[in-house]
Amino acid sequence: MATEASTDPDMFVKAFSDPEAARRYGDGPRRFVPGLEGLHRMTGLLLAERAPAQARVLVLGAGGGLELKAMADAQPGWSFVGVDPAGEMLRQAERTMGTQADRAQLVEGYIDDAPEGPFDAATCLLTLHFLAPAERERTVRQIHRRLKPGAPFVAAHGSFPQGDGERERWLDRYAAFAIASGVEPEQALAARAAVDANVAMLSPERDEAILRAGGFGDVQLFYAAFTWRGWLAYA
Ligand SMILES: C[S@@+](CC[C@H](N)C(=O)[O-])C[C@H]1O[C@@H](n2cnc3c(N)ncnc32)[C@H](O)[C@@H]1O
Repeated sequence: MATEASTDPDMFVKAFSDPEAARRYGDGPRRFVPGLEGLHRMTGLLLAERAPAQARVLVLGAGGGLELKAMADAQPGWSFVGVDPAGEMLRQAERTMGTQADRAQLVEGYIDDAPEGPFDAATCLLTLHFLAPAERERTVRQIHRRLKPGAPFVAAHGSFPQGDGERERWLDRYAAFAIASGVEPEQALAARAAVDANVAMLSPERDEAILRAGGFGDVQLFYAAFTWRGWLAYA
């Protein structure tokens, strides 16, 4: 079983930097993440509760562009800064956004490379689980620093019980969902093994504590689907 410290931060960026993998990205996440479209819709709705009609939204881990496209479609007045260290994934984001691509400024890099803002809202979807706990907290703090006071932030990523036997049980369910969604069993089991060996998944309680330690308040769980959790919080 993996330990938290086993994560090599560059390993995931390298994986996402493969041009073919980036081109195929659009099809993958919905087979691994139950209710992905609903997650995107809810994310836009939750941000819109507080963000203005002309909001400028920071999207960290924006590669692939799925949430950029969903929010751009739902909110015609919003503009975006999308940040991601994998250039190929940003090129895929441009393709995904199509005619709306000019509404997003895409920055190849990490949170430290993001403009200072201050932004009206922020998201970080399916990304923070790749960061070791200390870097995760630092990144969350840097997102917080770039938001206007009280601005909403949605984070959603892999997060599930880590107690004795629980990790295995939930990883089995992760693979079972992918297989039931049409992923070849061999590929789903390889993904399960890769997550088990390399990804520093935390318990939902620890992830919530990291959001608070990073400066966010009123942390609200709004999404729980097998191994995935999503929270709304305010700067
Ligand atoms: C599974 S994809 C999720 C992309 C998109 N947010 C979505 O929900 O479809 C994870 C993305 O996180 C990016 N990534 C990896 N490490 C990162 C970091 N430290 N900061 C920001 N993005 C990172 C990867 O390059 C990749 O594009």
